Amino acid sequence: MNELNEHTRMLDATVASDEKGFDVALRPTSLHEYVGQKKHVDNLRVFIEAARRRGEPLDHVLFCGPPGLGKTTLANIIAEEMNVNIHTTSGPAVEHKGALAALLSKLEPRDVLFIDEIHRLNPIVEENLYPAIEDFEIDIIAGDGPHASSYKLPLAPFTLVGATTRTGLLTSPLLSRFGVNMRLEYYPASELKQIVVRSAGLMHIPIDDDGAIEIARRSRGTPRIANRLLRRVRDFAEVEGDGKISKQISAFALERLEVDSAGFDQMDRKILLTIIEKFDGGPVGIETIAAAVSEPRDTIEDVYEPFLMQNGFLQRTPRGRIATRLAYEHLNIRQSRGQQRGLF
Ligand SMILES: Nc1ncnc2c1ncn2[C@@H]1O[C@H](COP(=O)(O)OP(=O)(O)O)[C@@H](O)[C@H]1O
Ligand SMILES: [Mg+2]
Repeated sequence: MNELNEHTRMLDATVASDEKGFDVALRPTSLHEYVGQKKHVDNLRVFIEAARRRGEPLDHVLFCGPPGLGKTTLANIIAEEMNVNIHTTSGPAVEHKGALAALLSKLEPRDVLFIDEIHRLNPIVEENLYPAIEDFEIDIIAGDGPHASSYKLPLAPFTLVGATTRTGLLTSPLLSRFGVNMRLEYYPASELKQIVVRSAGLMHIPIDDDGAIEIARRSRGTPRIANRLLRRVRDFAEVEGDGKISKQISAFALERLEVDSAGFDQMDRKILLTIIEKFDGGPVGIETIAAAVSEPRDTIEDVYEPFLMQNGFLQRTPRGRIATRLAYEHLNIRQSRGQQRGLF
């Protein structure tokens, strides 16, 4: 994602560099505080309790889902609830197998090793990770050339928690080594409202129910975006209002921030408009869309498409992406007869 977009785009669910502190301050620290994803939370509670009773590490866990839905938060909660330390790294940061060995040999029994963006591990590092997660040992090569010898270094039994935006990006040997695989879903407005109210409380921002709902409805199903919009709406409430967040001031602020009633930001609209206006509604390939809106393909597939598809504005077909009737309606554009009949 390019630098400029990261700071100017309101609804981008990735972390902007000026909000890392807030992200941490607002992050729930127990399963009890974690809002939503009920099915996964209930299961995790059972797995954690069972592992604790046996005095064993939790089975390896993979979280997948678009940015901002709470993957890192859950990884930290697992460590907290297991009462162990968490060691955090990310796929691209583990540059070679030596770095991996250094990380692994530091782990205490039952600790959590959290690898964010685990689909971006380099293949050699990934292969070296397999024996570690399967048998809690790593192969160490001593010396080199004809005198090199290899031996196995035992590791403390630990839990690997991986996070990825799409499971499809993981190799199948890695995927199959996770005992628990959880796909996080976009949050309904009712849950985002709870998150907004909770965050407002932590930040001492006065807010009423309708104000919170208004923010929740326009947060693209994403807690990180809900928290970001809350902070921006607070600015408007303080400068243009009486400091209290009501429905009126939320709606006013969100309009000024160009977040529309469906929760779309400019890029969501740009993608749909491009498909409709430049490619006659589609089908059009993802690479072509990416080039037309000047956004990396990955970002479109990880961040934009899932939300647009889930809400029925975009359809994925073997021949490419198609803008649906809902998209035309939302953007106030008339569909031609051929498009209506599905004759593309
Ligand atoms: N279920 C949740 N309940 C309350 N707040 C949440 C929840 N999930 C995420 N958040 C908030 O959203 C922010 C982003 O979550 P994070 O775990 O960093 O997302 P991800 O790692 O999936 O990108 C967190 O700092 C937290 O404040
Ligand atoms: Mg994260």
